[in-house]
Amino acid sequence: MPKILIVYYSKTGNTEKMAKAIAEGAGTIQEVEVELKRHESPWRLASFDAVLIGAPTYHHNMTNNIKKLLEETAFHNVNLKDKIGAAFGSYGWSGEAPRLVLEVMEHKFEMKVLKPPLLIKYTPDENGLEECRKLGKNVAEKILQSS
Ligand SMILES: Cc1cc2nc3c(=O)[nH]c(=O)nc-3n(C[C@H](O)[C@H](O)[C@H](O)COP(=O)(O)O)c2cc1C
Repeated sequence: MPKILIVYYSKTGNTEKMAKAIAEGAGTIQEVEVELKRHESPWRLASFDAVLIGAPTYHHNMTNNIKKLLEETAFHNVNLKDKIGAAFGSYGWSGEAPRLVLEVMEHKFEMKVLKPPLLIKYTPDENGLEECRKLGKNVAEKILQSS
């Protein structure tokens, strides 16, 4: 069965709300397995067909744990080539983190990335949550088509 990983960090819960809504949307496609995690080892990333990373912006950047995950994945040459990649995150005013994550996914890991990343200002409202559900469903449909 095709598998999606949603791995995220969230300090005050906003990106977590997004991550849960994305998982909910992906879960509407029954033939796909969805894992929602706050932590993941770089090696396990290779066992998924799609990897979605949730990264809130702090100090114009992604947080250290997300950076560490990307750096260790690169350092250990974990092969993510041609897997589907997407990035999302809550932000306050500049929102760099999901864009930076997507850049690494595209240029370093050579993943097939969904552009643009999904950014939501502070707490997602119902419209924002619906956008998240749509992203999850869209990724699930894409991996089903290519499996
Ligand atoms: C100390 C601090 C620094 C922040 N720096 C930025 C920033 O550089 N750019 C930005 O867009 N938002 C910034 N924010 C806003 C957060 O991205 C925003 O509160 C977001 O909803 C946090 O997501 P989370 O609840 O998933 O942790 C900052 C917030 C704090 C508390």
